[in-house]
Amino acid sequence: MNNLWKILAPAVGVTGVVAAAFAAPVGKEAVLQTAGVQLAQAAAVDVGTLQSEGRTIFNRDCFECHGRNGEGSNGIKLQGYANLRAAPQVVGQILNGSQYMPPFGEALNDRQVAAVATYIRTNFGNSFGPVQPAEVTSVRAPAAR
Ligand code: HEC
Repeated sequence: MNNLWKILAPAVGVTGVVAAAFAAPVGKEAVLQTAGVQLAQAAAVDVGTLQSEGRTIFNRDCFECHGRNGEGSNGIKLQGYANLRAAPQVVGQILNGSQYMPPFGEALNDRQVAAVATYIRTNFGNSFGPVQPAEVTSVRAPAAR
């Protein structure tokens, strides 16, 4: 019995360490995300910051379908696109996608969605104004519960 435990103990120990290694990043990320959401709700982000963060996200996640300058290709042309006026609709599209557009609600946090929404609403000749992270939080909230 004693000997059996000596054989099993290291295995249990290793399993524990491996489990902890997998669990740790997830826990950390969750804490960071919660902190991010609280920050987003606490303070409005200035428009220039949202625009520059949004440009980076757009040029990574959106340009292939909507064109670097919003000129469109597989996705619709965003230059002068009147639907961009309705902020909750824009946010909803980014979070949930549609038949032809992938959803970004998992990949992007509220601040990132606000930033890319701001970027497309205030670039390409558009002047529909910024979107704040708190607006994304409120569009996302009903689906999350
Ligand atoms: C795989 C191609 C693809 C990607 C990637 C993509 N879109 Fe789209 N998007 C589309 C298509 C197609 C439409 C129009 C038809 C539809 O709703 O399916 C669209 C529509 C939209 C609309 C208009 C919604 C409305 O109310 O009419 C917005 C806003 C938008 N996309 C933003 C984005 C943003 C921001 C990103 C990046 C985070 C993005 N899209 C990435 C294909 C894409």
